[in-house]
Amino acid sequence: MSRSGETEAKEPPASSEDGPPESLLAELRALPARYPQKRGALLPLLHALQAWRGHLTPADMKLAGELTGVAAADVFSVVTFYTMYRQRPVGRFPIGVCRNIACWVNGSEQIVSTVKAELGIAPGERTADGRFSLEEVECLGSCGTGPCLEIESRYFENLTPDKVRALIEKLRRDDRSPSEAILAAQREFPAAREARS
Ligand code: FES
Repeated sequence: MSRSGETEAKEPPASSEDGPPESLLAELRALPARYPQKRGALLPLLHALQAWRGHLTPADMKLAGELTGVAAADVFSVVTFYTMYRQRPVGRFPIGVCRNIACWVNGSEQIVSTVKAELGIAPGERTADGRFSLEEVECLGSCGTGPCLEIESRYFENLTPDKVRALIEKLRRDDRSPSEAILAAQREFPAAREARS
């Protein structure tokens, strides 16, 4: 683990059957000792496993449960409760559009429709080239700047269909690593809300 508590970058698995490499396993095994109760390490453990694989498999959840002493059913409840955890592979750019009430009244349905039309996928799907995926997610905690979406925890707010089309086009053309491309897109993204007519 780094000082910030994040895991170092690791090679992703070659197959969805693969378990974490020894170096990551050592970090995961050490994590529960850093909490007053080892079950407190469950969320960071799940984060670390997802950061490595891209999503969580049943084996990952089982491992997280074993290391923290949390029952399998409870681990599964946590994974299904938080929309930040994924149980299937996502694209290089996993787009999560908020579907909750504040974003909905500001037009999130139109944002989802725009993403669907641009990418030719529905929520829960991934483009054939593996570049994008789309999810509808619960409140991102940015209700005053809705509608909004997140890509790998980076927020894009005060969305309009035009802004979304420009964002997707930018990510389509950026061949840097996903984290670099998303950061660059966020820096250039017009943050201001446009006047409503
Ligand atoms: S309702 Fe969308 S961020 Fe809260």
